[in-house]
Amino acid sequence: MLNLVSPSILSCDFLNIETELSYFSGSKNLWIHLDIMDGHFVPNLTFGIPIIEQISKKTSLPLDAHLMVSNPEFHIQQMKGFGLENITFHLEAVADAKGLLNTAKKHYKSVGVSIKPGTEISTIDLEVLKVCDLILVMSVEPGFGGQSFIEDSYKKISELVELKEKHNLSFQIQVDGGVSNINSKQLRKAGAENLVAGSYIFKKNPSEYGALVESLR
Ligand code: DX5
Ligand code: ZN
Repeated sequence: MLNLVSPSILSCDFLNIETELSYFSGSKNLWIHLDIMDGHFVPNLTFGIPIIEQISKKTSLPLDAHLMVSNPEFHIQQMKGFGLENITFHLEAVADAKGLLNTAKKHYKSVGVSIKPGTEISTIDLEVLKVCDLILVMSVEPGFGGQSFIEDSYKKISELVELKEKHNLSFQIQVDGGVSNINSKQLRKAGAENLVAGSYIFKKNPSEYGALVESLR
């Protein structure tokens, strides 16, 4: 089972992103999580294509793009040359998730599908689960960092683990929102392989980032 941690730069010092990323250099099993919000799919607005292109040129850390946008096809097309480790779009944003997955998989190593807290696992088509590389369970309403973890998320992770076993599927399970050392152990136990954490890491002193990451494994 994977044991990844993905610091979300949503809570980092935006005017010093390069320095913030440098604190993770040399870290293994770590992705840098990029929250792309369009002010439409979610009320908040963050950064987009030009900034991600620059980040991709400045770091060799694996980049994980989480698209919280109404038209993910556009970003998927525009960012295909950036060498991202993974790109995830929201199931709720698209009419044909399987079609977009198949398109994206031609250009990306790993393509994920995310679900909001209100979306049940049972609504994900088995064909989508077969094609995707990652399922992102949102454990807060997407849009903002620093929210409280929604306890119902454990059940969703267990359901995904059952589906993986039943159908012999290979997607990894990522969890995002309100993750800290308080829930990480139970999340790992339930089957979460990739924990995204924003405020838990970036609201502390940079000298602690490394230890905070390890505390989530
Ligand atoms: C929320 C984002 C998260 C966010 C998590 O919409 O998808 O990645 O950064 O922040 P914390 O860890 O503070 O809940
Ligand atoms: Zn995210």
